[in-house]
Amino acid sequence: MRNSTPWWIRIPLIFFFIFGLVEYYVDSGDKPAFIEYPMVQLFLFMVLLILIAIELIVNSVENVLFQTLPEDAKERYLNAKSGSWSWAWGKRMYKKLLGSRPIEEEGEIILDHNYDGIKELDNKLPPWWVYLFYATILFGVVYMARFHVFNDYTQDQEYEMEVASAQAAIEEYRRTAKDLVDVNTVTLLTDASDLNAGKVIFETNCVVCHMADGGGGIGPNLTDDYWILGGGIKNVYRTISEGGRDGKGMIAWKQSLKPAEIAQVASYLLTFQGTTPANPKAPEGEIWIDENAPKEVSPQEETLSDSTDVVMNE
Ligand code: HEC
Repeated sequence: MRNSTPWWIRIPLIFFFIFGLVEYYVDSGDKPAFIEYPMVQLFLFMVLLILIAIELIVNSVENVLFQTLPEDAKERYLNAKSGSWSWAWGKRMYKKLLGSRPIEEEGEIILDHNYDGIKELDNKLPPWWVYLFYATILFGVVYMARFHVFNDYTQDQEYEMEVASAQAAIEEYRRTAKDLVDVNTVTLLTDASDLNAGKVIFETNCVVCHMADGGGGIGPNLTDDYWILGGGIKNVYRTISEGGRDGKGMIAWKQSLKPAEIAQVASYLLTFQGTTPANPKAPEGEIWIDENAPKEVSPQEETLSDSTDVVMNE
């Protein structure tokens, strides 16, 4: 029995092949299957053991058979083995793929062209090149059938799909990285945890001027529909981040609050809307109407209104 590859290549090769199959077929979410399911580790360990066991058994059978051989056969066997695998297989394959003729045979393929002593050999195309060429033809046929005969999907659709999946990935990322919000992307937070965090921020920083219930003092009333600097989450976010009008006393909080915190406190103070504070300050500014709120508009107006516009009422 002649081994073409040594055991220390064969065992890892088979092992990682099975490993790959397991990872491919066992659905384990983001993590590799062997981490997600400890049973898989056990299974792979057993596979490894079995592979080693098979190797040992084959070896000992070989040994036993070897002992039964007559002396000269033993010698022949050993000779055959010792030339062993070296890189014979690889070399043979390499030669085959190059397809070049040995120098001794060049006489047969030389052409009678003679350019100043430079002669041309009529070598065959190297098989690696030919096979690659066949592969491209096959690819072309499959491609044509799939996209031009059966119209699987167009480039436009492919683009749409990729944009959609990228959008989903960005959404996902935004949700985990809240500090990425800015005045253009901020949305009204409704999670209790965010609102509670907003409440804490409001009570430590803002109550001196706006009162705990938003009724107003030095700062304006935050419970009514009237806004000096515009209502709605985007305007409020901007007011808190950039501050109010010069000299009025509302500073830019972006120095001391993180974007996520501004979003939280903005969302919190918008919960004051419509409540009745103990000591309401008279309304200041103008009634704020949310452009994005569903309302009756002609389609023409609809397309003209820009939802990202930040309105600044001076
Ligand atoms: C030193 C007093 C003071 C503090 C502290 C203060 N504000 Fe103000 N706030 C004001 C004043 C004054 C205005 C009006 C600004 C103007 O007229 O331009 C204002 C305006 C606002 C407005 C806009 C109201 C409108 O009608 O457009 C919001 C929203 C606001 N403050 C939120 C906050 C938040 C949130 C905090 C805490 C992080 C805070 N303020 C802390 C004084 C204060």
